[in-house]
Amino acid sequence: MKLLRDGRLQSESSQTLDPQNWDEIRAQGHRMLDDMLDYISGIRERPVWQPIPDEVRRRFRADLPVKPSGLDEVYREFADFIVPYATGNVHPGFMGWVHGGGTPVGMLAEMLAAGLNANLGGRDHIPLEVESQIVAWTRQIFGFPGEASGIFVTGTSMANLMAVLVARTAMLGRDARQRGIASEGGLLTAYTSRAAHGCIKQAMDLAGFGSDALRHIETDQSHRIDVAALRARIALDRSTGLTPFLVVGSAGTVDIGAIDDLAALSALCREQGLWFHVDGAFGALGILSPMLAPRLAGLERADSIAFDFHKWGQVPYDAGFLLVRDGDRHRQTFSAPAAYLRRETRGLAAGSVWPCDLGPDLSRGFRALKTWFTLKAYGTEKLGAVITRTCALASYLEARILAEPRLELLAPVQLNIVCFRYRAADPNKVNREIVIDIQESGIAAPSTTLLDGQLAIRAAIVNHRTDTCDLDALVAAVVRFGAARTESIVLSDRPNPRQEVQGEVQVSPAA
Ligand SMILES: Cc1ncc(COP(=O)(O)O)c(C=O)c1O
Repeated sequence: MKLLRDGRLQSESSQTLDPQNWDEIRAQGHRMLDDMLDYISGIRERPVWQPIPDEVRRRFRADLPVKPSGLDEVYREFADFIVPYATGNVHPGFMGWVHGGGTPVGMLAEMLAAGLNANLGGRDHIPLEVESQIVAWTRQIFGFPGEASGIFVTGTSMANLMAVLVARTAMLGRDARQRGIASEGGLLTAYTSRAAHGCIKQAMDLAGFGSDALRHIETDQSHRIDVAALRARIALDRSTGLTPFLVVGSAGTVDIGAIDDLAALSALCREQGLWFHVDGAFGALGILSPMLAPRLAGLERADSIAFDFHKWGQVPYDAGFLLVRDGDRHRQTFSAPAAYLRRETRGLAAGSVWPCDLGPDLSRGFRALKTWFTLKAYGTEKLGAVITRTCALASYLEARILAEPRLELLAPVQLNIVCFRYRAADPNKVNREIVIDIQESGIAAPSTTLLDGQLAIRAAIVNHRTDTCDLDALVAAVVRFGAARTESIVLSDRPNPRQEVQGEVQVSPAA
């Protein structure tokens, strides 16, 4: 870089980060795109997941790069050492936790969004209209009124936290943002079921109420909140001088996919003057399935809903969403005027409400674009059909388990989640090992959970690519590894050595 005598800076195109040769990067880009499309279309041929060798892990502890490397070289590293060791949720055999499978359409939209490099914190540009379009579609999907507001966030954990903050503002008023929740806030109590996701507890903690202010109400046999017990606990808390302010219902519990009686919860909240929030992380989009929609009755009366487009909606990570019935309350909770964010009536700073008024983020990516592409390219009918089919696949898996005497179903299958185990003398230990064995074999990727102290193999069928053959492979693997594990535990308590030969897992007898 050279400063000229007259004070001007000499222009040097080599100083920008753009390529010197656009044809080269175009060719490289086409190769990358082709490779990624090949990866997705051939995903079934790969292991679902594989353990990361130490030497690969070490590569990612390298020194900070000071000098440039060629893009082809960096890309080769990606292809050789990142692609093979990804989570695996693109694969139809992935059934762990609650992970969406993504789509090529969503992937392409992400690329386009990165090219635009739009910042959706605010200002007047069409990407914000795209996000507003999704907000309007979301209102329509859930039957919310025109004044409802919505915003993309990372995921439902963040959306639940934001909902707790909106409920706080509704209860204590906007001043609480300045004063803090103070002594009045110390009396506020919230309610959810024992089966609720842990992020609700964390939200109460992060919002400053403390997790003790959250009551975990009993559930029935189907893991749905006991509404009578909830009513009794609210009355008890009031009688001791506490101030109930929030009920969080679940539309799809994380362990088994139970849906609370949302209509009863909404009626109770109206009667008691409480904020009714629904954690619908994956289950809320069940509304797109004509088969499931009736079971979500009452969702349309929630004060707020948190859910993810990246789970059952198949939008690539991340695409969480918060919808709030009363848009003013939502804005009052987060808007923070500043001179440098002044709104104008025209020009780039036009617009009264910007997304930064609806959440804690000022810089925000264009998550709306991949969601817009997904909704337009597939339509809600097709996305709803995928959701219906994942539930049918869960019923198929349930039937396979019931027909196999060595397996035991641990919870009623209500949605797309199946919890079961291999029968064994020490079932918690054996089933934990079986799940790890299966993950390491690359055949499938279930996860585990605890149901009343019993460790369950948990298969959440979320991925639109999953088919009956993947569930057959899971059942066969559980039986095979279960038999090997129980044998090896009887013979010796050593870990079971495994070998994988041409996709067939062979378990060597314990020596
Ligand atoms: C019921 C429920 N709530 C909340 C969450 C958290 O969602 P996220 O991972 O998008 O933050 C999950 C995740 O699986 C969930 O199943």
